[in-house]
Formats: sequence, structure tokens, C-alpha cells
Amino acid sequence: MEKIVILTGAGISAESGLGTFRDEGGLWAQHRIEDVATPEGFARDPALVQEFYNMRRIQAAEARPNAAHAALAELQRTFPGEVVIVTQNVDDLHEKAGATGVLHMHGQLDQALCAACGHRWRAPMRMAKGEPCPACQNPTARPDIVWFGEMPYYMDQIFDHLMNADIFAAIGTSGQVYPAAGFVQEASAAGARTIELNLAPSAVVSQFDDTRFGPATRTVPAWVAELLAR
Ligand code: APR
Repeated sequence: MEKIVILTGAGISAESGLGTFRDEGGLWAQHRIEDVATPEGFARDPALVQEFYNMRRIQAAEARPNAAHAALAELQRTFPGEVVIVTQNVDDLHEKAGATGVLHMHGQLDQALCAACGHRWRAPMRMAKGEPCPACQNPTARPDIVWFGEMPYYMDQIFDHLMNADIFAAIGTSGQVYPAAGFVQEASAAGARTIELNLAPSAVVSQFDDTRFGPATRTVPAWVAELLAR
């Protein structure tokens, strides 16, 4: 049975209206990473950080999955082998399109985490500074997002999937943030065939066996159709 491991990034949600980080006018052009995506930034100004994620949580809740998300869910449903989706995205558009078992290595907007007791719960649409944890009552609730300097989630499972992948695909990611940007090297070393589907060449494009350039809503359905027609 063939195994396909797919890594997605902000580019797959771009055509659903959710901003990417490093494109022209992207999120990191509007906000400083150190202010809104680090533990230090949260400690310095929790209200600012909660508001940054409130805005993104509301946008993500209103966003609809696009043809690329739908094609990956279809691949998971009908491919005769195993299809694992690992995402750097914190939106739930893969799940809204019907994908299952999605590994959110950078966390999820619709989840909250208690910095004191580690309790996780479904995040309210808006979280405030000093939000109480429903389990330990401390004012230590934070977005369940992996910030720069923190350990991404599910790394053991992800490396295990990469070691056993026959095909590794990276979709809509600029290949500038590790450990995700190093996944192609791990998969290649373990013998997988690798493909990049992106609007423009990523920073690690040279490490892929195959590349498909264009918007995800065009390249991903075409790639899935090829796989299902084999
Ligand atoms: N179709 C396909 N690819 C697209 C599209 C599209 N419609 N629009 C943009 N892209 C591509 C861009 O060319 C770029 O290579 O998506 C990529 C987006 O790159 P980034 O904005 O860097 O997003 P990502 O790679 O997901 O960032 C990784 O960085 O800031 C952290 O935690 C954050 O998860 C994020 C991580």
C-alpha cells in the first residue's frame, strides 16, 4: 500500500481569503513577529496578542475551504493507500473540506491552552487578556498556537510518517521556517518521491524531484486527479 504525506502552508488557504505571511502585504508586513508570535510578545502585551489571534480566528471561522482543500480530502477518501496531511496552518479549512487526522504542527486558532495547567479547550471566538482557564481558574489562557521559539506539535509522529512515505508533497509553503522546511530532505533520504506545488518556487525548491507552479486551486486538483487515475 502506497503512503502519501502532504505538508501544507498558508498558500493553500490564500484563495479562501486568508492572508499568507511572506507574500506582498502579508501578515508579517502588517505585524512584527516578535510582537504577536513569540512568548515574549505575549508576556509583554497579552491584549495585543489576543486581539491579533481574535482577528484571525474570526476570519478563519468565516472562510470556506477551496478546491485545493477539497481535492486533498477526496484523495484521502479514495486513494487506495494512506494519505497523511500535516499542516503549518492554524485554520480548520482542511477539516471543513472533510479531511481527517490533520496534524496541526503549529497549533489551531479554534483551540485555547492554559499556560499554567496545560488544559486545552475550544477557544471562544474572542479571547481577552487574563482570560481564565476553565480547569484551574488561573488567568493564564492563551491561543493554542506554536510561537517562534516553541516546539512544534506531533514531531515524533510526523518524522515517523516521513520515514515511511512513498510520496511527499509540499503545498503552499515558502520553505523558510524549520522544522517544516526540512521535511523534504527527510522524506527524500528515506526514499520518497517528492513534489512541490506552489505559486512560486520555495526556498527549498531545488530539493524536490518535481514541481508544479500555479494557484493551488488549479495545481492540487490536477495532481490529485493524476494520482487517482493511476
Ligand atoms: N496557491 C499556491 N501557493 C500560494 C498561493 C496560492 N494561491 N498564494 C501564495 N502561495 C505560496 C507563496 O508563493 C509562498 O511560497 O504560499 C507560500 C506562503 O508562504 P508563507 O507566507 O511563508 O507561509 P508558510 O510557508 O505557511 O509559513 C510557514 O511561518 O510565520 C510562520 O507559523 C507561521 O505556519 C507559518 C510558517
